[in-house]
Amino acid sequence: MDQERSICGAMASNFIRPRWAALLLLFTVVAVASLQITTKAAFPRWPVFSGSAGLTSESPNDVVLASNDDDPRSCSRFFEGVPRRKVVKSIADFGGVGDGNTSNTETFRQAIRYLRRFGDRGGSQLNVPRGRWLTGSFNLTSNFTLFLEDGAVILGSQDPEEWPIIEPLPSYGRGRERLGGRHISLIHGDGLTNVVITGQNGTIDGQGKMWWELWWNRTLKYTRGHLLELMNSHNILISNLTFLNSPFWTIHPIYCSNVVIKNMTILAPLNAPNTDGIDPDSSTNVCIEDCYIESGDDLVAVKSGWDHYGISMARPSSNIIVRKVSGTTPTCSGVGIGSEMSGGVSNVTIEDMHIWDSAAGVRIKSDKGRGGYIANISISNIKMERVKIPIRFSRGSNDHPDKGWDPNAIPKVKGIYLSNVISLNSTKAPQLKGIEGALFEEICFKNFTILGLLKSTAWQCEFVSGYANEVFPMPCPELQKSGSLLCS
Ligand SMILES: *[C@@H]1O[C@H](CO)[C@@H](O)[C@H](O)[C@H]1NC(C)=O
Ligand SMILES: *[C@@H]1O[C@H](CO)[C@@H](O)[C@H](O)[C@H]1NC(C)=O
Ligand SMILES: *[C@@H]1O[C@H](CO)[C@@H](O)[C@H](O)[C@H]1NC(C)=O
Ligand SMILES: *[C@@H]1O[C@H](CO)[C@@H](O)[C@H](O)[C@H]1NC(C)=O
Ligand SMILES: *[C@@H]1O[C@H](CO)[C@@H](O)[C@H](O)[C@H]1NC(C)=O
Ligand SMILES: *[C@@H]1O[C@H](CO)[C@@H](O)[C@H](O)[C@H]1NC(C)=O
Ligand SMILES: *[C@@H]1O[C@H](CO)[C@@H](O)[C@H](O)[C@H]1NC(C)=O
Ligand SMILES: *[C@@H]1O[C@H](CO)[C@@H](O)[C@H](O)[C@H]1NC(C)=O
Ligand SMILES: *[C@@H]1O[C@H](CO)[C@@H](O)[C@H](O)[C@H]1NC(C)=O
Ligand SMILES: *[C@@H]1O[C@H](CO)[C@@H](O)[C@H](O)[C@H]1NC(C)=O
Ligand SMILES: *[C@@H]1O[C@H](CO)[C@@H](O)[C@H](O)[C@H]1NC(C)=O
Repeated sequence: MDQERSICGAMASNFIRPRWAALLLLFTVVAVASLQITTKAAFPRWPVFSGSAGLTSESPNDVVLASNDDDPRSCSRFFEGVPRRKVVKSIADFGGVGDGNTSNTETFRQAIRYLRRFGDRGGSQLNVPRGRWLTGSFNLTSNFTLFLEDGAVILGSQDPEEWPIIEPLPSYGRGRERLGGRHISLIHGDGLTNVVITGQNGTIDGQGKMWWELWWNRTLKYTRGHLLELMNSHNILISNLTFLNSPFWTIHPIYCSNVVIKNMTILAPLNAPNTDGIDPDSSTNVCIEDCYIESGDDLVAVKSGWDHYGISMARPSSNIIVRKVSGTTPTCSGVGIGSEMSGGVSNVTIEDMHIWDSAAGVRIKSDKGRGGYIANISISNIKMERVKIPIRFSRGSNDHPDKGWDPNAIPKVKGIYLSNVISLNSTKAPQLKGIEGALFEEICFKNFTILGLLKSTAWQCEFVSGYANEVFPMPCPELQKSGSLLCS
């Protein structure tokens, strides 16, 4: 029977070949979802820095930067700064009503239509004051700041028609979950530059429960929308807010460059399907820093398109930095790479993470048909507690957009460097499964410790080669080319 249960990444289901309208192909996913007890840790405290992004000022020459802190490793320099906005309005100026019941869809759309005209005249800012502002989807504009004041909550509409259907992404060829188009995100942007979404810990709540139910009860007609999606955009800052209950992946920058996502709290129920935290997709120079995420799917997943659609579009994700991110996801991973990685993923740095009560710490997901590559991935200073499998390379999900996938399109994986990793109370040793005919090369472990494992659990390695120094417990023979300097 048709099973739509899905863990860790959306799975295509019920895909219908348009030319053969009657042909129904069914994918079965066996989900083994063993929930663990979750302990919620306090919000991590990182070094405080001064500055006031998003706030307006009298001096027009002030530039808003993502950070002026003195952490030399901060990646927030990817955001190039924007001048203070000349025109500042409140959603209330446009007749918005923040009573949690009145729809503000037209009001947001009208406000942004009005503010758009200041794009080349000093930019604009829309403030959302304290209150509960119900709305359907709306689009942002360039040289624009959306600022959620203390106590401001934007609520996603419960009417699917307020999340209209848009074209599928070219690197996916179809909606990720259903054929054809997909629901637009609650907050959307295409072809924008210099956008800031920030505030005083205001909240954007997608109220995704209705969408998760449509998924669970198999009545979803089109792929669910994201909470925030930006396409083809450059120089973006998303900071200091709380995002809740996304219908689907929470923040999805695709075909973007210079995106900083900093000091965000992203929450969804731990069983909410495919509520990934942040998914940089076919994007470059992305910084994800100081974020706390708990959700029903990967906290962060780096992607670059799906099978032949991603291969022909060939838009890689590169220069992605994920640092000081913490959180939990009981059935998925702290950071995932893939499974959609057909445009290539390279030069990813993952550091200073704390992950607990999760299925995997870092997981690299690929398969036959994906093509593409994963190269130069550095993972260091990671602390895991009660993470079942600390490091996992997996394959074989058999999840393809349509019959057009090429079984000879084998991904290349080279250069995965793990160092200074400690995992406490894991239940399994690393599982590193490459793909037959495509050895995963230069897989290097250095100062990597897993404590609390049963003596009987061993590393599982297939089609991988690499090096291990200061690794406990004893790694698989495939990684025992020790003494090599290549690993440093
Ligand atoms: C976040 O808010 C703090 C406190 O208002 C402010 O100092 C900082 O500049 C903001 N950071 C970003 C990246 O918006
Ligand atoms: C909520 O809004 C609907 C229409 O949008 C209206 O019919 C209803 O009376 C409102 N309820 C409250 C409690 O304001
Ligand atoms: C945004 O502002 C910059 C100046 O800061 C200007 O050069 C650019 O044309 C503006 N973009 C749009 C789309 O108005
Ligand atoms: C928002 O932009 C998308 C394309 O990116 C477009 O299809 C949609 O109609 C726009 N929505 C509004 C309300 O303008
Ligand atoms: C992080 O954001 C919160 C509001 O969400 C703010 O109070 C705090 O100052 C910010 N921290 C930093 C280091 O900017
Ligand atoms: C921001 O608000 C959310 C939800 O209201 C809360 O869980 C979180 O602790 C707050 N964060 C900060 C830094 O105040
Ligand atoms: C499926 O869930 C949706 C959203 O909650 C609900 O409106 C619908 O009645 C449900 N359908 C079935 C067949 O259970
Ligand atoms: C890879 O990323 C690092 C920063 O993490 C950067 O210094 C380097 O230039 C990048 N390499 C390429 C080829 O872009
Ligand atoms: C590989 O990544 C490291 C660390 O992120 C970076 O310093 C180096 O420049 C990268 N190498 C290439 C060829 O991009
Ligand atoms: C090894 O890794 C642990 C855990 O991250 C760290 O505390 C320790 O300092 C590292 N040791 C060396 C020699 O780098
Ligand atoms: C977790 O690990 C700690 C330290 O290694 C150990 O003392 C404790 O017994 C472990 N707990 C479980 C449930 O395995």
